[in-house]
Amino acid sequence: MFKLAVFVSGGGTNLQALLDRIADGTLSDIAIELVVASKQNTRAQQRAVQAGIDCVVMDRSEYADTLLYDQALSRLLTDRPVDLIVLAGFMCLLGPELVQAYRNRIINIHPSLIPAFCGHGLYGIRPHQAALEYGVKLSGATVHFVDEHYDTGPILIQKSVAIKNGDTPELLQKRVMEEAEQIILPQAVSMIAAGRVRIEGRRTVIMEDDSI
Ligand code: GRF
Repeated sequence: MFKLAVFVSGGGTNLQALLDRIADGTLSDIAIELVVASKQNTRAQQRAVQAGIDCVVMDRSEYADTLLYDQALSRLLTDRPVDLIVLAGFMCLLGPELVQAYRNRIINIHPSLIPAFCGHGLYGIRPHQAALEYGVKLSGATVHFVDEHYDTGPILIQKSVAIKNGDTPELLQKRVMEEAEQIILPQAVSMIAAGRVRIEGRRTVIMEDDSI
């Protein structure tokens, strides 16, 4: 069984997409070992509990800095090792200890086509506001490996979403979530679990799936 830890901070729609794909068998031999929430009382936590998954709340506001938070997360993952950490709407930067311990075994989903509209401060609704202000015709979502910086690790999958006349940041956010994020995040997990991903410098190489 390939074990995941899913880190969350809010709504948990990406967590739900993983739970749904595990439940319907699309993600087979994959289990969510634990969910880690960076805040108390999130919708994501409710979703984990409803699915019978252990949710550990590690409130970021109770730690003085990234290093202390990183150490606490690292201890948790030392006690309960997993094959892959999935940042699914996790709003905190990971520190060096965890990133090094899990090098190339942490992925993040970001709601834009990286390298556009990403980096420090561009989270939540902001990438969508920025995309509409800039006037791009395509936005979308990106799954990438995580390094020590915001949104800079090697890209694994991207899916575009067309901007429509009359789009607001909220409308675009909803379409990007439903038409891109919730599709490519389970795909990324599936590819990694199947051993189909190789990282070469900044690039990832996805091997063909010979099971289909
Ligand atoms: C998503 O847009 C994700 O890409 C971003 O934060 C949002 C979280 O959504 N990193 P949810 O918590 O999965 O509903």
